[in-house]
Amino acid sequence: MKGLERSLYCGQVRAANIGTTVTLNGWVDRRRDLGGLIFVHLRDREGVVQVVFNPERFPAAHKCAESMRSEYVVAVRGEVCHRPEGNVNSELPTGAVEVVAQEAIVLSEAKTPVFAIEDTTDVAEEIRLAYRYLALRRAPLQRNLRLRHRLYQVVRRYLDGQGFLEIETPVLGKSTPEGARDYLVPSRVNPGEFFALPQSPQIFKQLLMVAGFDRYFQIVKCFRDEDLRADRQPEFTQIDIEMSFVDTEAVLNTMEGLVVDIFREVRGIDLSRPFPRLTYDEAMRRFGMDKPDLRFGLELQDVGDLFVGSAFRGFAQPLAAGGRAMGLNAKGCGGYSRSQLDQLEEFVKDFGAKGLAWFKIGPDGVQSPVAKFLGEETIQRFRERMGGEEGDLLLLCVDRPKAAADAMGRLRLRFGHELKLIDPKALAIAWVVDFPLLEWDEKEKRWSAMHHPFTSPVDEDLPFFESDPGKIRAKAYDLVVNGAEIGGGSIRIHRREVQNKMFQALGIGPDEARAKFGFLLDALEFGTPPHGGIAFGLDRLVMILTGADSIRDVVAFPKTQRAQDLMTKAPSPVEPAQLKELHIKVDLA
Ligand code: AMO
Ligand code: AMP
Repeated sequence: MKGLERSLYCGQVRAANIGTTVTLNGWVDRRRDLGGLIFVHLRDREGVVQVVFNPERFPAAHKCAESMRSEYVVAVRGEVCHRPEGNVNSELPTGAVEVVAQEAIVLSEAKTPVFAIEDTTDVAEEIRLAYRYLALRRAPLQRNLRLRHRLYQVVRRYLDGQGFLEIETPVLGKSTPEGARDYLVPSRVNPGEFFALPQSPQIFKQLLMVAGFDRYFQIVKCFRDEDLRADRQPEFTQIDIEMSFVDTEAVLNTMEGLVVDIFREVRGIDLSRPFPRLTYDEAMRRFGMDKPDLRFGLELQDVGDLFVGSAFRGFAQPLAAGGRAMGLNAKGCGGYSRSQLDQLEEFVKDFGAKGLAWFKIGPDGVQSPVAKFLGEETIQRFRERMGGEEGDLLLLCVDRPKAAADAMGRLRLRFGHELKLIDPKALAIAWVVDFPLLEWDEKEKRWSAMHHPFTSPVDEDLPFFESDPGKIRAKAYDLVVNGAEIGGGSIRIHRREVQNKMFQALGIGPDEARAKFGFLLDALEFGTPPHGGIAFGLDRLVMILTGADSIRDVVAFPKTQRAQDLMTKAPSPVEPAQLKELHIKVDLA
C-alpha cells in the first residue's frame, strides 16, 4: 500500500473535510482526460468522489492517472477542496467537493468490465450472474446487502433483549416434513445412506423446547428442492423462532414487536399494533387466497345463494356439488372487447376454473352471454350485490371452492395491477389465522398437513378427527405483507395422543411414524412444555424492505430458476473416483 492506507471512504468526503488531506482507496468509476486536467470518479462501497489530477502541480500523480482505466484499483492522497463555481454536482453527496491528488498509485489493473458498473442495466441476467462480483459492485445491490446486514443486527438485538438464545442446529440431518423435495448428501462411511439438508430446523427447535431452553432463535439456511419463482430460492434464509409455555397470542405479540423494530430501524417506518388479523376463511372469500394483497380493495363477493338451483346447469351443478360462486366488479371495464374478455377467460382457466361469465353494464342494461339462462330478476340482484354501475364489468366464476378462489383471487390481482389500484409505496401487513389443519390431496386421495404434521389443532375441533377432518382448524398463522407470505408458524402438538391422531389422519401408520419421527415421539413422552413458534423468510423480508422485484437481488450469490450457480457452475459432474468412494452409480438412462 506504500503508506497510502485509507483515511476516509470516498463516499464520505464532505465540505467539512475541506482543507484536510485524505487518502482514498477505491475503483475508477469514470475517467475524463481533458488534455490538461484528468478527472477521476473514485468509487468504494460508500459512494463516489471526484479526484482531480493537475499536470503542472503534481506531475507524478498526473502521470499515474494517465494510465488509469475503468475499474482499476487505486490509492490516492490529496487535499479536499471546494469544487470551482459552476461545477457543484447537487446529485452526488460528495458533489460540493473534489480531491486534488498529490500522490497516486495503481494497486491493480482491470480488464474492460463485461458490463458497465451502473445502477440500471440492460445486460442479460445470465451475464450478470456469471460475473456476480461485478454486478455486486453496482450501488443498488450494495444497498440491498447492507440493508440485509442491518436486518440481522436488529433481529439479534431484539430477540436477545427478549431472552431468546441463538442455537445452531445440524445441516446434515434427516428429512424434515415441510413438503418440498429434499437435497440429499451421500454418506461415505455409511454406504447407501444419505443425509437430507434441512428444509427447516423444525424438529430440532421443538426438541430444544423439550430440552428446556425456553426461547430459541437462529438465522439459518434452509434447503428445498422445489419449483423456483421470483420469490423462491433453493437455499434461503429463515429467522427461525420457538418459544415455550405460550399460546398463539403470546407468539403473535412477541413477533409483532420484532417486525415493528425491523421496519422502524431498517426503514424508519412506524407500523401500528396490533396488526390486522384475517381468518383463512375470510381471506379466501374476500380475496381468493391465503396471502391477500391488502393494498387495494376490489374484493370478491360470495354470491352462491343467488344461483343455487339456477336453470343454468353450468352454475347449478357446481353449486349443488358444494362449489362456490365468486363475483368481481371490474370497475369501469364495461367497454372491454370480445378478445379482452376471451383473454380473461383463458386467464382463469389457467388456474383451473372451467369458465368465466361476464356481465357488461351499459346504458341499456346488462349484456351477458348467460343472461338468457338466468332471468332478469337474478341478474338485477347480482348487479346490486356487486355494486354494479353503468360502465362496469361484472365477472363471475362458479366452480369447486379451490378453483373458484384461485381463479378469482388471481383475477383480482391482475385487475389490481391493470387498473393501477396498487400504491407501490403502501405497506399492508396482516396475520392470517385459523388455517385448516388438513387439506385434501385430490391426486393422492388422502389428507395432508396444510402447515406440517406437528401443528396443533384448535382444542374444540379435536372431535372432528373422527367426523369431519376437513373442518379442523389449526393453531397456525402466517404473516402476509403486500401479498407475500413473509412468515408462518404454529402452536405445536405437545401431547402424544394428539400427535397419534394427527399421524392417523395423515395416513402415517405407527411403523412409518416411528421410522421417520421416532425420536420426536419419544421426546413427547419425556415432559414436553406447550410450545410454538414461527419462521420468517428473511430474503422475502429484505425484498419488501428494499422494494426488490426478485429474490436474486437480495442474495449475494443467488441461483437461477434452474437452481444453478452460473458463476461457479454448480451443480457439476464429479470424478468417477469420488462417486465410487460414495458408493454411487449414476445411471442417466
Ligand atoms: P414455512 O415453510 O412456511 O414454515 O417457511 C417459513 C417462511 O420461509 C419463507 N420461504 C422461502 N423463502 C424463499 N425461498 C423459498 N424456497 C422459501 N420457502 C419458504 C417464506 C415462509 O413464510 N418450520 C416452519 C416454520 C414454523 O412452523 O415455525 C416453516 O419452515 O417466507
Ligand atoms: P356454456 O353454456 O358452457 O357455453 O357457457 C356460457 C358462458 O358461461 C360462457 O361464457 C362460459 O365461460 C360461462 N360459464 C360456464 N360455466 C361457468 C362456470 N362454472 N362459472 C362461470 N362461468 C361459466
